[in-house]
Order: sequence, then C-alpha cells, then structure tokens
Amino acid sequence: MSSEVVIELEHVGKCYRLGEHHGAGTDLRETIARTTGRLRRLPREEVRELWSLRNVSFAVEEGNALGIIGSNGAGKSTLLKVINSITTPTEGTCRTRGRVGSLLEVGTGFHGELTGLENTFLNGAILGMTRHEVRSRLDEIIEFSGLERFMDTPVKRYSSGMYLRLGFAIAAHMEAEILLVDEVLAVGDADFQRRCLGKMNEVEQNGRTVLFVSHNLDAMARLCPTTMWLEKGRVRSIGPTEGVIDAYMRSAGSTSTGVLLDADPTRSAQVVGVSLVDDGGTVQSILSTRDAAWLTVEVVTNHPVPGLDISFQVATRSGTGILDELLSDLGPSSISSAGRYIVGCRLPPVLTPGEYVISVWMGTAYEQLEQLDDVVGFTVEGDDLGRARRLIKLTTEWRTARVDDHLVDG
Ligand SMILES: Nc1ncnc2c1ncn2[C@@H]1O[C@H](COP(=O)(O)OP(=O)(O)OP(=O)(O)O)[C@@H](O)[C@H]1O
Ligand SMILES: [Mg+2]
Repeated sequence: MSSEVVIELEHVGKCYRLGEHHGAGTDLRETIARTTGRLRRLPREEVRELWSLRNVSFAVEEGNALGIIGSNGAGKSTLLKVINSITTPTEGTCRTRGRVGSLLEVGTGFHGELTGLENTFLNGAILGMTRHEVRSRLDEIIEFSGLERFMDTPVKRYSSGMYLRLGFAIAAHMEAEILLVDEVLAVGDADFQRRCLGKMNEVEQNGRTVLFVSHNLDAMARLCPTTMWLEKGRVRSIGPTEGVIDAYMRSAGSTSTGVLLDADPTRSAQVVGVSLVDDGGTVQSILSTRDAAWLTVEVVTNHPVPGLDISFQVATRSGTGILDELLSDLGPSSISSAGRYIVGCRLPPVLTPGEYVISVWMGTAYEQLEQLDDVVGFTVEGDDLGRARRLIKLTTEWRTARVDDHLVDG
C-alpha cells in the first residue's frame, strides 16, 4: 500500500482583482500577509483580474520533499499561501492532513508595528500554535534566533536577516507535519542557510513533508527528489528534479538578453530595464572569459526617494550566488532625486565559462521597491584551462621571494 497523501490540490485557481480597493473585513491572515509582505504594483483606475494560479492539481505523500520552481510571478508563493490557508483559492479545492508550519517570504505573517515578542505570539498563532505552546518554547525560540536584545523592538526596525532568524526560529520550534519554505535561502547568510537546509533535511528524515520554493536549483537538487515547474500559474511539468530543472534552464536560457519593463507613474521609483553591456555600449548575452562588462539598469524615479539604492547579484544558472554588489558600498547613492538614470556596475573578467543570471534589487534601508530575480541571463565562453572546480578566476598578483640565499652562499 502506498503511503498517505498529506497535501492534495484539485483544479486550484486563485484570482486577484488588481486595482480594487481591499477593504476591511477580509481574512485577517491575508490582510497581515498583504500589508507586511512585499510591495506590489497596482494600477490605479481599472480593475483587472489576474489569475496567479490556474487549474493546479497535484498530491504529495507523507515524508516526501517537493521542490517548486518557476520565474518571478509564476505563482509559487501564492501556491504556498493557499496550502497554508493564508489565502483561499478562488476555485478548486486544497486539502492538507496534519499541522502546517511555514517559513514564507520575508515578513509574511509579521506585523511591523509589533515587537519581536508580540510577533512571536502572533506568528505562532498563525502557524497554529496555542499561546501556551508558544510560551513553553519561548526561551528556546529566542535563544535560537539570537535576538534576545531585540525582542522588545518593533520588527519594522529589523533587517531582513533578523526577520528571517525570528521566522525560522518560530517555524523550527513547532511540531509540524508539513513544512512550507519559500525562498528564504536567498536572503540568509551562509550559516543561516546551512541551518535551514539542515532543518529541512531533518524534517524530511523524520517522515514529515516539505515543500520548498527556491531559485537556488543546486539546493533544490540536493533536497528534493521531485520538482514541480510553475509557469504563469499553471503546472508546466512535475517529475524527477533533474529532468525538470534541465527543461526549466533550457527554456529560461532562450529568453533573456535584456528586459524592458513598462513605466508606471504611480510608483515612486522603478527599474525599467536591465541588461549586460560591453565596453562599446552594446547589449551582450555572451562574454569571453577575457572581457569585462557592465551590469546595467535603467531606473525611473518619479518622486524623490532618499537613500535609494540598487544591488546586482550574479549567480550561476543553477542558483549558486557569486556576486552581490551594492551601489552605496562606494558612498551615498546619487539617484535619490526624481529623474531617469542609467546605473552601471563594473563586472571585471572574473567569471569562468558557464551560464549566469543577473538579479536586481532596488530599495532603501526601510523598504524594498523592486526585486527582479534572474531577469537577464548570459553565457561566458572560453577555456577553463582544465580547472573546472573553480567558480571565479582572479588572475591576480603573485609574489615570489627567494629565501634560501644564505644556504646558497654558505
Ligand atoms: N495579494 C496580491 N494581490 C494582487 N496580486 C497578487 C497578490 N499576491 C500575488 N499577486 C500576483 O500573483 C502573481 C503570482 O505571484 P507570486 O508571488 O505567487 O509569484 P512567485 O512565483 O512567488 O514569484 P517570485 O519568484 O517573484 O517570488 C504575480 O503576478 C503577483 O503580482
Ligand atoms: Mg514568491
């Protein structure tokens, strides 16, 4: 007899009505998730329907780990929110068996004005814990998070790393039969990522079920035997991880040389283009191992945004991060006043032959205005000189000094 099905979705669809005013009286959890989650672009006047999920059907058996991949906006987070009952499906049914614990996008389920301690109780309740359960594990949760000194600070003053530590500590200390993990590896430091992967592994080993959303395909391949690929809200394929990742990478590779996005005057600041540009100013999708280039964004600032900052991340196509450079690393940013800017970040010829993707973040110390994951792909071509195990090459300075002179002389 096969093992028990613990997650089952049948023809699930989720429709958002964009532009509609979300009044009071909607589901509390959804309101919290929406107000504390990432900022969304909403056109002002017209009301438009957007199906984030459509006709999604699958089942997961107890003790399995299912990976979920797909490009930005494919519906991955929405899917986890449906499974976690943070949001209700517009059509179809979703059934789960057992308690669902989750580590969703940074800040989901946290309320900015409340302190770390208050949020621990709130988040615990959202995860299905009683106050008594939270209280009995509070010391462990606080210790694990390493945030003893910040438990009375409103979480809106937390960095994204601190948010994560608290969210992870809460999720890790509840007994859940199903663990949902959304994209948390992208923001944590190496130590956090290790603990997180270890925890997920442990959960899986204990016969519990894990759903893991990530753009880090290497981590996915290690953790999940089966992966589902979502595309525009629909299941494009589901099967053994290696085959699904292969197909996904091939399809992603064919699309991107540069992106252009529509300007939206209602937003304070927006990225309208991303590309990789050579020294001659030409957009490139292939570089030689000898060529430097510019990671380039075009930004429109409609209102002054003090402290507006930009970062570029470069990762291998399979998700291993290589670079993460922040404009303000070099001093105060100069794109805060209203205007249109081209911002370039020098990419020296350090990459080895392979396929890469560029992601862009824009925001301030207090809010994220843009996060475009894997928006542009490019290939580096050349000889790896037989050194296939390295990720970057420095061709850097060497020093040699002869130190046995006295022996030679003597
Ligand atoms: N609360 C909401 N209101 C309106 N639209 C929403 C809401 N949540 C999600 N959407 C829209 O639904 C679509 C799917 O979003 P979702 O966040 O699930 O994508 P994703 O696959 O998780 O993307 P990413 O890789 O960027 O995290 C997007 O077009 C998004 O803008
Ligand atoms: Mg998401």
